[in-house]
Amino acid sequence: MDMKLLSKTAAAMVAEGKGLLAADESNATCEKRFKSIGVECTEPNRRAYRDLLFTTKGIEEYVSGVILFDETLRQSTVAGNEPFPSYLEKKGIVPGIKVDKGTHDLALCPGEKITEGLDGLRGRLAEYFKLGARFAKWRAVITIGPGTPTHACLYANAHALARYAALCQEASIVPIVEPEVLLDGDHTIERCCEASEATLTALFAALRAHHVSLEHVVLKASMAVSGKDCPKQAGVDRVAEETVRCLKRTVPAALPGIVFLSGGQSDEAATAHLNEMARMPGLPWPLTFSFSRALQNPALKTWRGAPGNVAAAQRAFYHRARMNGLASQGKYRSDLEKQAA
Ligand code: 13P
Repeated sequence: MDMKLLSKTAAAMVAEGKGLLAADESNATCEKRFKSIGVECTEPNRRAYRDLLFTTKGIEEYVSGVILFDETLRQSTVAGNEPFPSYLEKKGIVPGIKVDKGTHDLALCPGEKITEGLDGLRGRLAEYFKLGARFAKWRAVITIGPGTPTHACLYANAHALARYAALCQEASIVPIVEPEVLLDGDHTIERCCEASEATLTALFAALRAHHVSLEHVVLKASMAVSGKDCPKQAGVDRVAEETVRCLKRTVPAALPGIVFLSGGQSDEAATAHLNEMARMPGLPWPLTFSFSRALQNPALKTWRGAPGNVAAAQRAFYHRARMNGLASQGKYRSDLEKQAA
């Protein structure tokens, strides 16, 4: 366990004005995204699309790290045939890896999920380190519904996240712990706050119980928002206020930083929410983004699998990265959106 390396990696991940690109969609998720633009989800197409994102000029001004999928960690750039991890590293971007094996039904807890992937993880982490990964991600899913989340679901997922985080640190890889409270449903923002607070309380108790070094773990949090189908949608100010209140109640100040997922929010809403939080004075941790959809949507729609669209798609991606980089410093304004290419 190389503490110096862990500190260096964690600091780089949350460097001022930068955030993470989540490009770790599993092949099944990638298939969904590609289907929406009529592109076949083949290995060469996945490589071409990730290549488009990573080779976007200047992206390192706003992107500190990229979360990769196992397949992508082993692929190379289209033009120079350089392995993606070393290409990113040379660009000053830290390569990371999603290591969980997805969610499965949690036995005896209808409607709830548990994330699998602990078996053999020590061996996989050793290989990922050799391939250049310096941080990892594990996503748990918490569902709000009648009678959920249950205690069983919160504690089973917190336990898995803690065991994963301990294995990562042992391998000198910074763990991102991601307990995503889903925005699906018609619940109020108050219920989302309750569920988020219970989730984070369970998570940090488990991290402590498993001797995880809090200075070397990054939280990937969902924002406190109204359920997607809730008739009363909380505004930007309220989302920012409730999210930060919930984090302050549950997350130790020792953490190097907190990054957010976008979770199905619109691109501009995710950016505006982050900006409003980052503007708050006296926050104990840097806050930034770790978006997949809210960073990639415009690029994906512009690309549509056509090589002739690559340059325009890269401009669209650069723009979203810049907007979110500004938002992480509280310097975003919606009128800057007009500068989109
Ligand atoms: P979204 O930003 O699309 O929610 O994805 C982030 C992520 O990595 C989910 O695990």
